[in-house]
Amino acid sequence: MTRNPFASKVALITGGASGIGAAIAREIVRQGGEVVLADRQLDLAEALASELRAKGGRATAAELDVRSLTAFEKLAKETASRTGRIDYLFNNAGIGVGGEMDNYRPRDWDDVIDVNLRGVAYGVQAVYPLMIAQKSGHIVNTASMAGLVAAAGEGSYTATKHAVVGLSKALRIEGARHGVRVSVLCPGAIRTPILSGGKFGRMNFVGLTEAQILGMWADARPMDVDEFAHKALKAIAKGEFIIVLPRWWKALWYAERLSPHLGLAIWGRILGRMRKQLEKFGARQEWSDEN
Ligand SMILES: NC(=O)c1ccc[n+]([C@@H]2O[C@H](COP(=O)([O-])OP(=O)(O)OC[C@H]3O[C@@H](n4cnc5c(N)ncnc54)[C@H](O)[C@@H]3O)[C@@H](O)[C@H]2O)c1
Repeated sequence: MTRNPFASKVALITGGASGIGAAIAREIVRQGGEVVLADRQLDLAEALASELRAKGGRATAAELDVRSLTAFEKLAKETASRTGRIDYLFNNAGIGVGGEMDNYRPRDWDDVIDVNLRGVAYGVQAVYPLMIAQKSGHIVNTASMAGLVAAAGEGSYTATKHAVVGLSKALRIEGARHGVRVSVLCPGAIRTPILSGGKFGRMNFVGLTEAQILGMWADARPMDVDEFAHKALKAIAKGEFIIVLPRWWKALWYAERLSPHLGLAIWGRILGRMRKQLEKFGARQEWSDEN
């Protein structure tokens, strides 16, 4: 393995304007690779791309809504014809809806399924054929610990992230014969805007400040996003499949595999704690048009 495995590689990163996607982009460019930051938040993507170019890196921004297969295919074709190849696809864009399912409206399912599952599927549809044609490539899907364990209090998110882990397992096996590698990132808690809802997600809570929401994450000890990106890219370069970071979250995954009942009990306690904290703050779970 070379010291900078991403040198001269081309990476298309969805959700590349913020959080994990942006940190992965910074690290790839630092290693001499080229990034395409594909995001609904074009302004943020452009700001990051020009910051990276100012430092001598190769980066472009592109407006992309991963819910549109046509738009995804167009961007994939444009990128491949401009750069000659796409070495990495980071299917990373994602949103969350916080709160229990008894408060859901249909859009709490639809919005999350459309971005977190359909968006990943469309990424595969758009880029996998190009990778098959070039006989190489690496698809990295961002799932979550919520894709491995019974993360309660975010049902649609948990459902889609389990689906992304399943999709990744099947694609890892199928892709091998085409020289296409597949990895799935399963972050625990990482310090990014999604923790308090993010730009396109929401929390079905009323009466909670952003500081209180972030305070509720304290027990999960969120990891710095640049540290996450550095460690994730090291694991990806080694071809690891299910990448759990921070590493200590693996204990929760092992507990679930050892005994699904134990996993349910652990997450039952975590949910109980969340309910108590909401009570303490005088907040409640409620669906609101303003969310
Ligand atoms: N931060 C965490 O603790 C954590 C934990 C587990 C998994 N994840 C996953 O990591 C991924 C990145 O999230 P993040 O933490 O960086 O949050 P973030 O909110 O900072 O970034 C998400 C990005 O996705 C973009 N996006 C949302 N909908 C889109 C769409 N339809 N089309 C294109 N772009 C869209 C947003 O504009 C944003 O730039 C997500 O899939 C998330 O579920 C995050």
